[in-house]
Amino acid sequence: MSTTQQPRPVTPASILAHRLQALVRLGEEQPGTDPALQAGLIEAYQLAQGLDPYLDRFSTPASPALHALEQRTREHDWSAGSGPLEQEMLSGQVEGQFLKLMVHAVRARQVLDIGMFTGYSALAMAEALPPDGRVVACEVDEAVAAFAAENFAQAPAGAKIDVRVGPAGQTLRRLASDAEVFDLVFLDADKVAYHSYLDILLSHDLVAEHGLICVDNTLMQGHPWTAQRSANGDAIAEFNRAVAEDPRIEQVILPLRDGVTLIRRASPTQPS
Ligand SMILES: C[S@@+](CC[C@H](N)C(=O)[O-])C[C@H]1O[C@@H](n2cnc3c(N)ncnc32)[C@H](O)[C@@H]1O
Repeated sequence: MSTTQQPRPVTPASILAHRLQALVRLGEEQPGTDPALQAGLIEAYQLAQGLDPYLDRFSTPASPALHALEQRTREHDWSAGSGPLEQEMLSGQVEGQFLKLMVHAVRARQVLDIGMFTGYSALAMAEALPPDGRVVACEVDEAVAAFAAENFAQAPAGAKIDVRVGPAGQTLRRLASDAEVFDLVFLDADKVAYHSYLDILLSHDLVAEHGLICVDNTLMQGHPWTAQRSANGDAIAEFNRAVAEDPRIEQVILPLRDGVTLIRRASPTQPS
């Protein structure tokens, strides 16, 4: 069965908009709500609600192949599978465009996508690569890897993607033993293992000296700084702390969708 439901809010801005919308409705329903309070709530709701659509509208649109991949992902019935997969996992137009610009910025030829799902980030980065460029895409779920491979077969840049099915930790160790080096890495797999993946990437020199690592969901719906608790929120809070204390790297967290951290190897300290 196919479903085309609207994705539920999964970014701090869209969750905030959702909460504010509920408060606006509550204010409308309750007699005697202070008009100034209601006007302020409406203004705050509009500010939060309009952000993501504004970013979508003024960022470069997705290619027809990416658009089709997103549509197929939205139409698929994820509730029928046995795993935790859901349409909200798809990164989408703005983040895909961000990754494309990162490919251009580091002049990447070799890209590593950790956590492929239906292939949006892998295909976006493949589209930005030169003809001899390659994306190695890691995915543990065989069924979704097959779904992604069907998408790649229909996309002009799909032939640049080399899918590796299996637990990402094993795939990374195999890539390291093959002396592979990547110019750009997008980390978007199981959040509880983020720190171990980062450690493998750095300690096995899987990232080129000029390379960049982009890590998704590092704001995790606001859980690291609000009262909301979740296993993923705790894992991301711990990951962010460990990254901030790691002298091997420098980083910045960007509030793009659910947060993207950019990481590079720190330059060796020059003697003064
Ligand atoms: C958030 S989704 C990735 C979304 C994708 N990057 C995109 O742009 O649409 C996370 C994916 O990581 C996969 N995953 C989870 N644990 C993994 C593991 N240990 N090894 C490899 N992939 C894993 C999940 O099956 C899921 O497909």
